[in-house]
Amino acid sequence: MDNFEYRNGRLHAEEVALGRIADEFGTPTYVYSRDALERAYLDYAQALEGRDALVCYAVKANSNLAVLNVLARLGAGFDIVSAGELERVLRAGGDPAKVVFSGVGKQPDEIRRALQAGILCFNIESDAELDRVNAVAGELGVKAPVSFRVNPDVDAGTHPYISTGLKENKFGIAIETALDVYRRAAVLEHVDVVGMDCHIGSQLTEVSPFLDAIDRLLGLLDTLAAEGIRIHHLDLGGGLGVCYTDETPPTPGEYIEQVLQKLSGRDYKLIFEPGRSIAANAGVMLTRVEFLKQSGDKHFAIIDGAMNDLIRPSLYGAYQEIIPVEVREEGEAKSWDLVGPVCETGDFLGKDRLLNLQPGDLLAVCSAGAYGFVMASNYNTRPRPAEVMVDDNQAYLVRERETLNDLMRGEQLLPTQA
Ligand code: LLP
Repeated sequence: MDNFEYRNGRLHAEEVALGRIADEFGTPTYVYSRDALERAYLDYAQALEGRDALVCYAVKANSNLAVLNVLARLGAGFDIVSAGELERVLRAGGDPAKVVFSGVGKQPDEIRRALQAGILCFNIESDAELDRVNAVAGELGVKAPVSFRVNPDVDAGTHPYISTGLKENKFGIAIETALDVYRRAAVLEHVDVVGMDCHIGSQLTEVSPFLDAIDRLLGLLDTLAAEGIRIHHLDLGGGLGVCYTDETPPTPGEYIEQVLQKLSGRDYKLIFEPGRSIAANAGVMLTRVEFLKQSGDKHFAIIDGAMNDLIRPSLYGAYQEIIPVEVREEGEAKSWDLVGPVCETGDFLGKDRLLNLQPGDLLAVCSAGAYGFVMASNYNTRPRPAEVMVDDNQAYLVRERETLNDLMRGEQLLPTQA
C-alpha cells in the first residue's frame, strides 16, 4: 500500500494523517488515495502503449463517482454489469463509447439504455441473451455490437466463490458450443459481432491460467476466421490479484508483457477489465476500537466497523491487514479478534491479530479499496460508511455517511384503519 505510510508513528494517506480524517468525518470511513488509483491504472495503460488497447476498469470493484471520475479523466474505459453502473459512469464523465457491458442477466430496459447511450460492446453470456439483445436492438432499429464471453474451462486456482472460468460456473458460453453461437449471431439482423471475451476469475496470483485461456480462445478465433467470421477485439477480462498479506502476484506490466508475447503476430484490439488490481490497495477502511473484552482465553476488540461495512472477511474468510493509525509506544501487543457490533458470530474483520490496543484507538483495515464499500449493506439498520478521497494534502468527502432517514426512505406504515 504505497500511498499509506507512517510518518512519526502516524499513518498517512498521501500527505494527510488518517487520524485527522477520523476526527473530521468519523468512523467507519473508507479512505482512498487518488495517486494510488491513478498509478495502478497507468501501470496498465503504459504497458499497453503503442498497441490498440483499452483498459475498462471494472466498476463493480469500487463505483464511487469520484473514483470513476479520476479514472475517466485519464481516459479509462469501463466494464459495467448493470444500468446502474452505466448511469454512474455517465455521471462521472466516462465515455460511453469505451464501455463494455458484462453480466449474465441483462434486462431489456438495461440493454435499451446501453444502446441509447452508445456503448462499445455487449459481452453476451448465453444464447438466450443473444436473442434478447437482437430483439431490443431491432425495436430501436439499430445494430448492437456484441462479443461472446467464452468459458474456456480453465482452473484459475483461486477461491471457489470468485473462480468463474470453469465449466461448472454459471458464467460464459462453454467453449465447445461457442462456435455455433457465433455462427448464429453472424446472420442475425440486429447484432454486429465484434469481439470475444473471457474472465476466468479474480485474485489470480499467476499468469499461467490467463495464458491457458488465451490458447483456447486463439483456437476458436482461428476456426471463426476460417469461416469468415472476423473478430475485431479480444477482451481478456480482469482478475489480476493483489498483495493482501504475502501474495506475490505479477504486476500489470509483467502480466501484459506475457500476454503480448502470447499474442504476437495477432492484431486484435485488446481490452482488459481490471477491478481489484486498480482499486484494492488504493483504499483503507478506518475503524475505531469501542471496547476491549476478554472471554476465557480469547481477547476481543469490539470495533465500530462490521461485516455490513466490509464483508470480505466474513464471506470469503479473506485476510486483510489491520494496522494501528497511531503507533503506541507503551504497553504490549496481544492477540485480538477484531469483531463488529453486528449480531452474528461471523461478524469479524480479523482474527488472532497481534496488536497493542486501547479503547478509542483507530485502526486501518488495509487493501479495502476494492469490493469494500460496494459490498456494504444496511444489515442491523447500520448506515453505510462515509467515503473520503485524499489528493496530496487535501481530503475530500466523496460520499456522505448515510443517515437513518436515508435508510428508511420509501418505507410506509399501514394506514391506521387497516
Ligand atoms: N470482468 C468481469 C466480467 C468480472 O466478473 C469481474 C469480477 C471483473 C472483470 C473484475 O475482476 P477483478 O480484476 O476485480 O478481479 N467480491 C469478490 C470479487 C468478485 C469478482 C467478480 N467479478 C471479492 O471481494 O474478492
